[in-house]
Amino acid sequence: MASQEELPASRSKRLPRVAVILAAGQGTRMRSSLPKVLHEVAGRPMLAWVLDAARDAGCERLLVVVGHGAEKVRQALESPDITWVYQHEQLGTGHAVLQAAPEVTRESLVLVLSGDVPLVSGATLTSLAEMASAGWGALAVAMLEEPGGLGRVLTHLEGDFSRIVEAVDANPEELAVQRVNAGLYALPGPEVFEALSQLGTDNAQGEIYLTDAVTAAASQGRKVGLLELADPAEAWGVNDRRQLAQVHQRLLQRTVERLMKSGVTILDPDRTAVEPGVDVGRDTVLHPGVTLLGHTVIGEGCTLHAGAHLRDCHIGAGVTIEPYSCLHKTQVADSCRVGPFARLRPGAVLDTGARVGNFVEVKNSHLGEGSKAGHLAYLGDARVGEGANIGAGVVTCNYDGEKKHRSEIGKKAFVGSDTMLVAPVSVGDGATTAAGSVITNDVPAGDLGVGRARQRNVSGWAKRRSRGNEGD
Ligand code: UD1
Ligand code: MG
Repeated sequence: MASQEELPASRSKRLPRVAVILAAGQGTRMRSSLPKVLHEVAGRPMLAWVLDAARDAGCERLLVVVGHGAEKVRQALESPDITWVYQHEQLGTGHAVLQAAPEVTRESLVLVLSGDVPLVSGATLTSLAEMASAGWGALAVAMLEEPGGLGRVLTHLEGDFSRIVEAVDANPEELAVQRVNAGLYALPGPEVFEALSQLGTDNAQGEIYLTDAVTAAASQGRKVGLLELADPAEAWGVNDRRQLAQVHQRLLQRTVERLMKSGVTILDPDRTAVEPGVDVGRDTVLHPGVTLLGHTVIGEGCTLHAGAHLRDCHIGAGVTIEPYSCLHKTQVADSCRVGPFARLRPGAVLDTGARVGNFVEVKNSHLGEGSKAGHLAYLGDARVGEGANIGAGVVTCNYDGEKKHRSEIGKKAFVGSDTMLVAPVSVGDGATTAAGSVITNDVPAGDLGVGRARQRNVSGWAKRRSRGNEGD
């Protein structure tokens, strides 16, 4: 058998990297109607994280093996750089890799990744690829205190790789081994397919195990490198909901740690959920129970109180988000104050120093500099000028049952409490509407718009009423 020295010279050169990502399994233990690899961790399907790692490691091609729920997986992650490979019957990880054989005819380095091992990084895969090019192949291992159902990696006395045994096939002594197979490999293509085609299914699961191909290569004297993962979490596989939660938590934890290192105060890291795509400026303070999702960006020196829930938002500097406010696809400029209990929906834009208070909902509306909507209002499809004041209970009646219409409110306008602005309608610069008005016509700049019934008082009403009741 070829020893390392006898390997062809081409092995030492940089071979094209091809990723084969296994994502066809049903994941029975998830007890789900959703294919396992589509379950989300930190806001994205597990498989999306694995694809990113493969891209980061410079893979020229991404071959994704799908089977169970194949169409759903394709739909969720379709991308021009992915080639979909079908495994119609799930006969094991080795069988899954074999399905990609027709796609890998040139000499290449095949990075085999598991769609259910989502914490892997591009840097780790790069190291794995480099290690593999010094021998026949390489696999990633980790020491886990609770190795659970993962495959155990056994070594010879000198520490060289010997074989992988699946937990279900292992004897008690083997089960006690804490070194696990992470399910991440760098293997020679197309050679590895030949090794796989010779495997049987003599194991507890009656499957063709990819791990057996690696074991077979080693037993034939081929050098299989073991890359010990610096962060053992990269080996965490997701086979059930508990493991899903652990991986999700880990991704959020990493982000919280990154932010704290960069100068963000996070008062209770365990109760602050921040997805990896989020950025937060220095000296911003996150109170317990803050949730920051998607591609949210927050400036410096902000304070976000308990229950602030932001998804895909841009927040300037020095902004205060009071407790229990929900913001989605919203832009908030410097020094604004939002909440408590405010709801900013997609398309809400707040200019510098604007104020949106409790139980105010804003959708697809622009609030000018220093404008205020302090209490109980709905602003939809509206433009509010600089310094305008929106009273308590104001509603822009933007929907006529068929179409949406706009409300224009001028600079320094004063929209009295409980005004209904029946759109399309405008209130000019410096204009006022009387409290309780239903405004159906434009109010010119500087005017007062009154649109309500005139009050009359019925004198002696209480006495008259009690007299009327005497006969009962
Ligand atoms: C596998 C490894 C185990 C390793 C663990 C790491 C084998 C035999 N075992 O076990 O050593 O510790 O991963 O997480 O390889 N898949 C297919 N087609 C199939 C079977 C599986 O595409 O026919 C896919 C699954 O969707 C999954 C991945 O391959 O994404 C791993 O399969 P899974 O059944 O989860 O294997 P494990 O028991 O976790
Ligand atoms: Mg698994």
